[in-house]
Amino acid sequence: MMIARDNNLEMESASEEETGRIGMQLAAVLQNRDLVVLSGPLGAGKTVFIKGLAAGLGIDREYIGSPSYTLVNEYFGKFPLFHFDLYRLENESELYFIGWDEYLLRDGVMVVEWGEKAAGLLPGKRIEVDIAIIDEHSRHLNIRFLPGSR
Ligand SMILES: Nc1ncnc2c1ncn2[C@@H]1O[C@H](COP(=O)(O)OP(=O)(O)OP(=O)(O)O)[C@@H](O)[C@H]1O
Ligand SMILES: [Mg+2]
Repeated sequence: MMIARDNNLEMESASEEETGRIGMQLAAVLQNRDLVVLSGPLGAGKTVFIKGLAAGLGIDREYIGSPSYTLVNEYFGKFPLFHFDLYRLENESELYFIGWDEYLLRDGVMVVEWGEKAAGLLPGKRIEVDIAIIDEHSRHLNIRFLPGSR
């Protein structure tokens, strides 16, 4: 399986490891200032995907936690990686206080869990990763490269 930036992609994952590998493959085509928005229900595998993506950027996946309370964690690999988890976001305005606009201008890659909570603040140019739960171990992944400006 190859990920290319000019192709949207649909695939099944049969395990946590496989979802991590897909995240790692996405990392290989990431560019500075990319924004990756993950959606899917609780336990879909968004964080698992990001751990693989981080590993692909040379960041130890064991470091990756869930920035639910802080909203964002920062890591340093091939690119700086800014991991947002907006699950606990109650209002888009909270994002101004953590510097969302500044993050959008910084060098690095942003990955956002529960980005739908900030739908109004997402740039058009983004990579969307939707993960649907099929059953206990299988997931359906949909990766879309949306054009636009950031
Ligand atoms: N094919 C699969 N891909 C990813 N995770 C899987 C798969 N099969 C089972 N799992 C399990 O599903 C769970 C995914 O957890 P994860 O924390 O990544 O979800 P999440 O989407 O980040 O949830 P949350 O919205 O709570 O942050 C893990 O316990 C993982 O072991
Ligand atoms: Mg998560």
